[in-house]
Amino acid sequence: MRFPDGFLWGSATSAHQVEGGNTNNDWWDFEQHPASAARWSSGDGIDHFHRYAEDFALLAGMGHTAHRLSLEWSRIEPAPGEFSRAAVAHYRRVLTAVADTGMTAFVTLHHFTLPRWLSGRGGWLAPDAISRFTRYCSLVTEQLGDLMPFICTINEPQMIALHGYLEGYHPPGITNPALWRRVGAILLDAHLAAVTAIRAAGGTRIGLAVQLPLLAGEGSLPALMRHEIVDRYLDGLTGVDGGDWLGVQYYRRQWVDAASPFHFAPPPPGVPVTQMGWAVHPDGLREMLHRAAGTGLPLYVTENGIATEDDTERITYLRAHVAATAQAIAEGADVRGYLHWSAFDNFEWSEGYRPKFGLIAVGDDFTRRPKPSAHAFTDIIRQGARR
Ligand code: BGC
Repeated sequence: MRFPDGFLWGSATSAHQVEGGNTNNDWWDFEQHPASAARWSSGDGIDHFHRYAEDFALLAGMGHTAHRLSLEWSRIEPAPGEFSRAAVAHYRRVLTAVADTGMTAFVTLHHFTLPRWLSGRGGWLAPDAISRFTRYCSLVTEQLGDLMPFICTINEPQMIALHGYLEGYHPPGITNPALWRRVGAILLDAHLAAVTAIRAAGGTRIGLAVQLPLLAGEGSLPALMRHEIVDRYLDGLTGVDGGDWLGVQYYRRQWVDAASPFHFAPPPPGVPVTQMGWAVHPDGLREMLHRAAGTGLPLYVTENGIATEDDTERITYLRAHVAATAQAIAEGADVRGYLHWSAFDNFEWSEGYRPKFGLIAVGDDFTRRPKPSAHAFTDIIRQGARR
């Protein structure tokens, strides 16, 4: 397997999934609501809010050269137009700690959570949602831009729209096909507006992270799903200032089926599945990297991983997907990094702490324990650096 010079290796997290104590956003409300799909409270997370420095040192010590994390908008802007100097100072310490390890930071500005004041006004459907978002993006870039070598505007706009407005298992818990499509369009516009705002504030290397499942099925419904999940965003980045790079997040193959609730059927019998019930299909990553390469943007795999209690399965998954990435590169795709999801076992949204996506386990007392897969990843990184 060959990787280009400067290829970045690392792992990813998001604020709400690891920090703990994020009580001022729409996810916290969703978790507390008895009728919502969420079965757990994110609670203390893995206390990354206090343990970030030791976490980054641990990852860098395992050979990681990059790390992806997100800023929590509801901490930075707890009330409309009120920016918390203490929260900005906290994230300055966090990003300085990443830089001190030598790892390159990928900083996501919106990873699924909205401040409560915005969700209360309609979230992404609020008339001023995009202007509120771009103002936050500008502020963060002005204050922290020197510590954000890679800026990611929005994590998985398609999944925000799909899970929140069609399937209803993320906030706001709506199941409305028309709103699903409308929010998808709004989120693409929000990304494009954020690119302009971040550039104006002096930010560089701006990107979008999209989840690109390999969607199986022929006919009008699969075509609609491909449009809403894949093409709307990839085509929407073409011919405009869509940013400087694209994050590809890939987990699985999915079967579109009109007869199934919310348009997806479970994998056919015999197909290997993860703790999430997702079908493992490494070649889909190669395929979707080629599809993403059509945008002409440099690509980074900004998420890829498996929920499993069986860490040997994770090692197999990891090796197969890194190999699929190497193959895409050998076939001409401009892929410049691979970030595994996730660094740690963490809060998996509506599924709570049950699914284990981490290279590193976290005990009840928050002790970090690297799994064999973490060491296997270190070996992959060492081999990748050798030529
Ligand atoms: C998200 C992560 C999530 C992961 C596994 C992606 O949809 O960006 O926050 O934990 O996939 O479900």
